[in-house]
Amino acid sequence: MRIGILGSGDVAKSLARGFLSEAHEVMLGSRDPGKLAAWARESGGHASAGTFADTATFGELLAIAVPGTSAVDAIQLAGIGTFTGKIVIDVTNPLDMSGMPPRLVGGLGTSAGELIQHAVPDAFVVKAFNTAGNATFYKPQFAGGPPDMFLCGDDAKAKETVATICTAFGWNVIDVGGIALAHYLEALAMVWIITAFSGNHWNQAFKLLRQ
Ligand SMILES: NC(=O)c1ccc[n+]([C@@H]2O[C@H](COP(=O)([O-])OP(=O)(O)OC[C@H]3O[C@@H](n4cnc5c(N)ncnc54)[C@H](OP(=O)(O)O)[C@@H]3O)[C@@H](O)[C@H]2O)c1
Repeated sequence: MRIGILGSGDVAKSLARGFLSEAHEVMLGSRDPGKLAAWARESGGHASAGTFADTATFGELLAIAVPGTSAVDAIQLAGIGTFTGKIVIDVTNPLDMSGMPPRLVGGLGTSAGELIQHAVPDAFVVKAFNTAGNATFYKPQFAGGPPDMFLCGDDAKAKETVATICTAFGWNVIDVGGIALAHYLEALAMVWIITAFSGNHWNQAFKLLRQ
């Protein structure tokens, strides 16, 4: 499948590594795609870089890996129409980065997941990967077994597709519900971020234990 990832940072590149390892074609998007030339060269023939518009046009499935507070700006730069009918993985967290650890912005009704779905009503937004550290996106190795990937979104088929991707990447999938619950996944990401900062635990992941 052709995967278009809006973003040029560590998260976009970690996701790309997973998709490339799973034999997909990947384009990363940036306002300045020239800075991704070395990444594209080093990542092999199935990797390329373009503008946000190039990337959203290229991708049959899209992912958004920009700051949650800039996600709608990135979508507008890409062009709303390029999202029509596509699954969009929302990897973002909307953070105020003015202090460390960062603080969460938005709430129920104003989460990044909901604002993204609202911006692209003809696309199928699935929030996923936002509660994981990018170093463990692909084939996470933990003594306790595969960690849990929480996802939410309104379209059952889109969630099935994203769940299949998460499983291939090495995660156990937990479907939390509709996109209206995105705020809770964004808040859960804050638990990951705060405990990472306070304990210097950058390789950690969530797992629900059940009987
Ligand atoms: N760090 C993690 O392990 C982790 C894990 C899960 C989720 N996340 C979330 O994943 C997202 C990406 O994180 P990251 O650290 O890789 O990258 P980032 O530094 O948050 O974002 C970099 C990307 O955002 C774009 N961008 C920044 N401001 C923009 C604006 N005003 N309009 C349009 N695009 C803009 C940049 O575009 P240019 O290339 O044009 O500069 C670049 O592609 C964030 O929402 C983060 O919270 C992070």
